[in-house]
Amino acid sequence: MPQMEGKAALVTGAASGIGRASALALAREGAAVCVSDINLDGAQETARLISDAGGQALARRCDVTNRDAIQAMVDATVTAFGRLDAAVNNAGISGHFYQRLHEADDESFERVIDVNLRGVWHCIKAELPPMLARESGAIVNIASVAGLIGAPKAADYTASKHAVVGITKSAALDYAKSGIRVNAVCPAYTDTAMVQGAIAGNPIMASIMTRAIPMGRLGLAEEVAEAVVWLCSDASSFVTGHALVLDGGLVAI
Ligand code: NAI
Repeated sequence: MPQMEGKAALVTGAASGIGRASALALAREGAAVCVSDINLDGAQETARLISDAGGQALARRCDVTNRDAIQAMVDATVTAFGRLDAAVNNAGISGHFYQRLHEADDESFERVIDVNLRGVWHCIKAELPPMLARESGAIVNIASVAGLIGAPKAADYTASKHAVVGITKSAALDYAKSGIRVNAVCPAYTDTAMVQGAIAGNPIMASIMTRAIPMGRLGLAEEVAEAVVWLCSDASSFVTGHALVLDGGLVAI
């Protein structure tokens, strides 16, 4: 039986990359999925891909820096599907790479924290009430290996992702007896628009990234999505507060 049959999920930042792959994988496993993104056209395209494959999807514009928009996204999901079983807090930005901390611009820092940290915070707060009402739910936050180890010239991004891992662990403890599991995934360089953007700005980055990974290649969004589905599903029913690394061996070094 599909792992998410009869369940309802939402994914933020689902217009591309890891978010789109996660939405498609959740729908493949039977979930009805609210696909949201600041980019409505991209979210609608993800919803179309789900519908074309026989799944059920709702596309929403949602900027995760806007609390009202987050609440509206959660409300729309519950209205459309009658419940919220799983939430994937994926929307994120990279900030400005290649700047040591004293050179980094404060606006980039504020923006990265707003999207990557405050966004996750407000999403979790909005997602919990419908889960608490049913004493059941799974939240998966997309962190990064930069949530576990340092990354040179990326202090803003690293700070935001360490905080996401911290929120994940504390929230997991807060709701461990309430039927709600909270986990994170920590991918290394994954071949998405985010990484392609970094490579376009600095072509040598492509070889730096692949050489950093013991497997010698970038990860795929679909590989991250499989872990997301597992953490959303009952197959991981005893797993909470975990930060699951998907990194081709990077943090084993
Ligand atoms: P991506 O750029 O393909 O997708 C990010 C999505 O988030 C885009 O669709 C974008 O429109 C959306 N987004 C950006 N700001 C938003 C906002 N304020 N509100 C709502 N949506 C917004 O990038 P990717 O790689 O798929 O990133 C997804 C997540 O994975 C991010 O949290 C990123 O930090 C994380 N990650 C990515 C890695 C990589 O190497 N690609 C590695 C580790 C973590």
